[in-house]
Amino acid sequence: MGQGHLVAHAASLEPEARDAFLAAAAAHPWGSLREALEHGATSGAPALRPPKCYTLGRQLNQNEEHNRVERMGQGLLAGGRVATLLLAGGQGTRLGYDGPKGMLEFGPDEGRTLYRIHAERIAASTERYGKPAPLYVLLSAATAATTRAAFDEHGEAWGLRPGQVRFLLQGTLPALDDAGRALIAAPGVLAEAPDGHGGAFQALADAGVLDELVEQGVDILTTFQVDNPLARPLDPVMLGWMVERRLQAIGKAVRKASPDEKVGVFARDLRGRTKVVEYSEVTADDDAADGADGADGAIESPLMLGSIAIHGFSVRFLQGLAREGDALRLHAARKKVTHLAPDGSRVVPEAPNATKLERFIFDLFPLAARAEVQEVKREWEFAPVKNATGIDSLMSSRVLVDAEVRRWHQTRDLPAPETAPALKPREMDGPR
Ligand code: UD1
Repeated sequence: MGQGHLVAHAASLEPEARDAFLAAAAAHPWGSLREALEHGATSGAPALRPPKCYTLGRQLNQNEEHNRVERMGQGLLAGGRVATLLLAGGQGTRLGYDGPKGMLEFGPDEGRTLYRIHAERIAASTERYGKPAPLYVLLSAATAATTRAAFDEHGEAWGLRPGQVRFLLQGTLPALDDAGRALIAAPGVLAEAPDGHGGAFQALADAGVLDELVEQGVDILTTFQVDNPLARPLDPVMLGWMVERRLQAIGKAVRKASPDEKVGVFARDLRGRTKVVEYSEVTADDDAADGADGADGAIESPLMLGSIAIHGFSVRFLQGLAREGDALRLHAARKKVTHLAPDGSRVVPEAPNATKLERFIFDLFPLAARAEVQEVKREWEFAPVKNATGIDSLMSSRVLVDAEVRRWHQTRDLPAPETAPALKPREMDGPR
C-alpha cells in the first residue's frame, strides 16, 4: 500500500510503542484511502437533475394530504418510533471558538448554549408526545470530554430524561502526503484527523445501536447539526412524509439564497438516485446540467435546493447496509499538517501539504433506492452559526432566531417579547 516507511519508523521504536503503533496503523483502510486520493474530489455524476421533492407550496396548503402526513408523523413520535442523532464532532475552526460549538452561549439568557437549545427542543417533543426520543450525540476526541460533562451536569435541567442521551465517538483517518504516504505526527504517532460525520454510520454499527433500535421498535433515525439552533429533527411532517412515500432517506432543503451560498445541494443523478453534492465539490459539469422536470413542476434547476443537513433514515435501511459491510465514500481536502521528516525534524508547513480524508453522512442518500427531499421555509428552520462575523455568524443567527420567536408569539397571540440584552447590536459581533 506504499506505507513501507511506517514499518521502518516502527523499527526505531521501543517494543511496546512499536506494537501499539503497528496495531493502530493496521486498523486503517489503506486501499480505500489511496483510491480516494487518486480519484480526487468530484461529485462523480456528469449530469444532475432536480430531486423528487415535497415542495413548500404543497405543505403550506394545509390540505388533507398535509394533515394526514403530519398526523402520521405525530403517531410515530407518540409510539416511540423515532430516534435522533446530533452531529457534534466538528471543531468549529471557522467560528474561531475555542471549544465544542455546542458549548457556545447563544443567549438570550445566560447558560443558553446551542446544546441546551437542542436538548430543550427534544424535551418539548417528549412533553408533547409522551415518549422521549433517544438522543445520540456524535463526538470526536476534540469535543468528547466537555460535551459529556455538559450533558451530565445539565441534561436533566434541560428536560432530558435519565438515559435518554448516549454518546458515540467517531473515528480518525491518517493524513497523506502527495505521494499517498501517511505522515507521522510524533514518534510512534500517525498524523490523523476525524473521519467526518459519516463516521457516525460506522460508530452506530460498531456500538450495536442499529440492532438495538430495531429491537426497541424505532423505525427512523434523524440527524441534525449542532450549528443550527432552529433545527427541527423531530418534525412530524418530515417523519410522516417518509412513511407516506415509503422512503429510506429524506433530507430537508431550502431554496438557495444565492448561487454561491455555501450549502450542499440535493440532486438526482442519471440512475435516478438522490444525492447531496457538497458546495466545495460542485463541478462545471454539474453547473451545466439541464434542469428539466421538477417533481411537481416547481423545482426548475437541479442545483437550487440547498441542504440544511437535517436527514431522516430508515433504521432497517441502515442496518442492512451495515450488515453488507457497506462503507461511505471518502472525500479529500487539502490541509496544512505538521509532521516529522524522515530525519526526525519537525515540519511546520506554510501551505497545504497533505490530504485529509473524511466521510459524509449524506452519502447514504445514493445508497437508498427511495430517497426524497422536503423543502422547508428558511426563516423557520435554518439559522446556522458558522463564521465569526457576517453571513452565518452568531450575530446573524441570533437575529433569525429572534424573528422566529416573535413569529411564535404572534401565532399564539402572545405579547411581543422584549429585545433580549444578548441581541442588542453592540453585543452581536462575535462569540462572548
Ligand atoms: C454542512 C454540510 C452542507 C450543508 C450545511 C448546512 C457537510 C460536509 N456539509 O456544511 O452540505 O449544506 O452544513 O449548514 O456536512 N461534524 C462532525 N464530525 C466531523 C466534522 C463535522 O460531527 O468530523 C459536524 C459538526 O459538528 C457540525 C456538522 O458536522 O455539526 C457540519 O460540519 P461542517 O464541516 O461545519 O459543515 P459545513 O461546511 O458547515
